[in-house]
Amino acid sequence: MIKKGIILSGGKGTRMSPLTKAVNKQLLPIYDKPLIFYPLSILMLAKIKDILIVVNKGQLNQYKSVIPNGKNLGIKITYVEQDKPRGLPDAFILGEKFIGKNNVSLILGDNFFYGQYLSKKLQECVKLKRGAKVFLHRVKSPEKYGVAKVKNNKIRLIKEKPKKFVSDLAITGLYFFDNKVIKYAKELRPSKRGELEITDLLNKYKKKGSLKADYIGRGGAWLDTGSIKDFYKTSNFVSVIENRQGFKIACLEEIAFLNKWINKKNLYDAIKFYGNCEYSNYLKQLISK
Ligand code: DAU
Repeated sequence: MIKKGIILSGGKGTRMSPLTKAVNKQLLPIYDKPLIFYPLSILMLAKIKDILIVVNKGQLNQYKSVIPNGKNLGIKITYVEQDKPRGLPDAFILGEKFIGKNNVSLILGDNFFYGQYLSKKLQECVKLKRGAKVFLHRVKSPEKYGVAKVKNNKIRLIKEKPKKFVSDLAITGLYFFDNKVIKYAKELRPSKRGELEITDLLNKYKKKGSLKADYIGRGGAWLDTGSIKDFYKTSNFVSVIENRQGFKIACLEEIAFLNKWINKKNLYDAIKFYGNCEYSNYLKQLISK
């Protein structure tokens, strides 16, 4: 069982400047909550309780003021600072001690996932013992992502942001790895853009025949938060669903409560912590159910 998860939540967010001059991108709002709540909720839905969040050097306090240490959610949150964006596999080098001898999941701080049966899928993925697993999703602009070419259910090719069409299956920012990931990450060399590439890491698993794929099908959503336009589109998506159903997406306390990691007293504490707001009203509703 994978019990450890890493959220990569640094990055300069230059495409969204000046919004990201004072505040990290992952703390900006997707509708009614900070972006980081969404990937954190995904790890919690996978029943992962031990989580490392990688943040930019100098931005730790921003994060701690909204997600202090996880106790309020019945989980353990540790932070580590990254002094510059060295690439996604750097998560496993910075997180070596945190991972120890365990297997690990990685989610990118700016990735948004939503769909029925997603929790069930996630809880299957954490059963991974050996190798690596990625989630693929069909997109209209594959050149913006890492992509995978699949034939007969096997990954044949992996490429980072291909200029020429290879496949329309994007590799989403949610990955499951065995413990070899630390060793493989350390062997990587920076690409032309000066970063360690996740696709190079995945290719190591592919060469060994131990890379598997799962899918977020057309009934599920994997949305972008790369640019300001994407931020608004994703916010609209959340707003439409939440206001139609009356359920919140990525309410961390709700997930913790339904997982029986926290009790009603913790919900009262959370209401005090957030103050008089919509999010607290939602938590009040949970208590009275
Ligand atoms: O979103 C999925 C895509 O994410 C994959 O399809 C690609 O294969 C993968 O390389 C990655 O592509 P991006 O170019 O979109 O990654 P980006 O540099 O935007 O970083 C993703 C998140 O990770 C972002 O929230 C910032 C954070 N980050 C990134 C780097 C490079 C860090 O915290 N530290 C880093 O060193």
